[in-house]
Amino acid sequence: MNAHDTSLHAAGDGIAMGEELLSVDNVTLRFGGVTAIEDISFDILKGEIRAIIGPNGAGKTSMLNVINGFYHPQEGTIRWRGETRTKMKPYEAAASGIARTFQNVALFTGMSTLDNIMSGRSLKMKSNFLTQLFYYGPARNEEIEHRKKVEEIIDFLEIQHIRRQPVGKLPYGLQKRVELGRALALEPDLLLLDEPMAGMNLEEKEDMSRFIVEVNRQFGTTIALIEHDMGVVMDLADRVVVLDYGKKIADGEPAAVQASQEVIDAYLGVPH
Ligand SMILES: Nc1ncnc2c1ncn2[C@@H]1O[C@H](COP(=O)(O)OP(=O)(O)OP(=O)(O)O)[C@@H](O)[C@H]1O
Ligand SMILES: [Mg+2]
Repeated sequence: MNAHDTSLHAAGDGIAMGEELLSVDNVTLRFGGVTAIEDISFDILKGEIRAIIGPNGAGKTSMLNVINGFYHPQEGTIRWRGETRTKMKPYEAAASGIARTFQNVALFTGMSTLDNIMSGRSLKMKSNFLTQLFYYGPARNEEIEHRKKVEEIIDFLEIQHIRRQPVGKLPYGLQKRVELGRALALEPDLLLLDEPMAGMNLEEKEDMSRFIVEVNRQFGTTIALIEHDMGVVMDLADRVVVLDYGKKIADGEPAAVQASQEVIDAYLGVPH
């Protein structure tokens, strides 16, 4: 929780570090007969790295999908920057500063690294195709500004060498890094990462861990992170919420959560 202002830092939202940025209040989400999330409440404080852990099918991805407006819960509410959110669509959540990456990489595989990250800025672009046609000058200046930001992100993630390559041909670890870049292009206040290290080798995991910490420290970006690797969770997270069969079974600092008998029984003591 030690934010330094840099050019990539999102605009201030008046919320001090350590204060509530987002709050999940008594949320229940059902798919037909399946209750994916049952009466869950927890908060995310500005500037923290908040891990969400739990066994397969616990409701972790569903929780992120509720937070970014992809699913609307049958019960409960989300408070975002102090205001209770009504049904918010994913692009509205994104425009209001919530970015995410996906459990399975979701990139435009035929497009270059540069263009994929650029696509993450589309919500920030005022000019569209028509204004670019008719008001060439301002649109051109805007494009240059956006390119500059994207180049900063490419430098930050150390992916200059692959900037022109189609992402579909890149090793998996680098694809995940490009996806992080696309999320960062939004300059989010809250970054949701769904298993950013799944399927990576040790070196790729160490790189990704380092970038997550740097994003948090340098830009002050609040991060909610789903991760199965407990070593990573222990290293990175300020606080951890544990889900099991759609219910919250623990919430607290990593060491306390790791020592909880209920968590050990449901998750940590079980091979996964
Ligand atoms: N779109 C959907 N339609 C129906 N059921 C769903 C849908 N999405 C999730 N579920 C169900 O909700 C429950 C929670 O799934 P979710 O994907 O949130 O778990 P998870 O904790 O992310 O698991 P994993 O670690 O395997 O990614 C599961 O029983 C799943 O089958
Ligand atoms: Mg999941």
